[in-house]
Amino acid sequence: MTTDRRAFVRSAALAGAALVFPGAEWLDGASLDRPAAPLRPLPPAAQDDEAYWRMVRSQFLISPKGIYFNTGTIGASPRTVLDAVVRHMTAFETVFDAEGVDLEALRRSVGALLGSPPQTLAFTRNTTESMSWIAGGLDFRPGDEIVMTTHEHVGGMCAWQAVARRRGLVFTQFPLPVPPASAGQILDAWRRAITPRTRVLMISHVLFTNGLIQPVKELCALARERGIITAIDGAHPPGMLRTNLVDLGCDFYASSPHKWLLAPKGTGLLYVSEPWLDRLWPTIVSGGWDSLQDKAVRFDRKGTVNDSLYAGFQAAVDFHALIGPERVERRIRWLGDRLYDGLSRIAGVQLKSASDATIRAPLVSFTVDGWTADDLIQALWERAMVRVRHVAEYDYHWVRLSTHVYNTPEEIDRVVHLVAELAARRS
Ligand SMILES: Cc1ncc(COP(=O)(O)O)c(C=O)c1O
Repeated sequence: MTTDRRAFVRSAALAGAALVFPGAEWLDGASLDRPAAPLRPLPPAAQDDEAYWRMVRSQFLISPKGIYFNTGTIGASPRTVLDAVVRHMTAFETVFDAEGVDLEALRRSVGALLGSPPQTLAFTRNTTESMSWIAGGLDFRPGDEIVMTTHEHVGGMCAWQAVARRRGLVFTQFPLPVPPASAGQILDAWRRAITPRTRVLMISHVLFTNGLIQPVKELCALARERGIITAIDGAHPPGMLRTNLVDLGCDFYASSPHKWLLAPKGTGLLYVSEPWLDRLWPTIVSGGWDSLQDKAVRFDRKGTVNDSLYAGFQAAVDFHALIGPERVERRIRWLGDRLYDGLSRIAGVQLKSASDATIRAPLVSFTVDGWTADDLIQALWERAMVRVRHVAEYDYHWVRLSTHVYNTPEEIDRVVHLVAELAARRS
């Protein structure tokens, strides 16, 4: 096994380990039984306050025993999403009382959220699957080059590695400055990486390593000028940043609504821009695979799937709309900024995320002098059951915290205080 592969296998195992909750005691039985008061809509212009966000928090099953800072890996769905899945699944198993799921209505609501015509969206299980559909569905000439950074998640990257090995393509990764300083600096790094052979740019909209928001619109324009295809790993933005896919100008966009949109696990999205709708080869086929007039819907035809997940997906989009995309983004970035600012005041903390908040998503990464990431993560867990992500990929070994609407300012302050205490011990 190569060092690279070993690093990825290890980091994949660590990412998996981060999902293993410590048994049933993690779940607060009472909160499962006790229905929360339904979330009240707040008019868009009305001021939200901490009381409002406490009501939002009460919609979740997250146990107060710990502090969950790992939405970047997987979101915690609100009760309405879980209820929608269970209700649909329960009815389904009665056989005769099964409820339908209106997939076209779901496509319309997701399209409205992401600024994409409904017919350009297909439902997949996650970003990994969507990216595999893109890489596997294009025609290449030997020697074509695929370019991406050394900040790619295996779920966005490996489909391209595999297709490159199989078809004799050139697979290129290049580094980005850490911490990143500006969008212009990032654009310049991409400009330098492109060669006359480049056929595809695989671009993470938000880097999973340190939350950098890449200048995707500018990168897509640059690629288009040169006839280069753009495939965006958009695992994070839906439910986090207001996004307009048509305006971004990308050819393809792959996403995981189970993260920030808080949809059921196993719901994914594939956006195929209009010019590609009849040119992308489908990876999984069934009847109607070549009915080009069906646009992206033809990519949904892959045998029997679990429709209950889509009932939950619709509930997740409705929940997000009820709070309001602008309000969600403002709140979770405010929480992320509070975390970043708190950490930046601690001696010994080395921040890996951008200091410019306009290019920083609410994923904050850092190291602490004198601490390995493993030891720091363990210490946070032992003190307050703080759940974070170890960014072990590429041997970075950074600690990453994500903030969502269910996180509170008190949780942020608590973790900043803990990090300060730990940093002081080894300074
Ligand atoms: C940037 C990025 N791409 C892809 C993935 C893979 O997502 P999924 O497992 O939902 O396919 C992740 C998961 O964390 C990610 O952060």
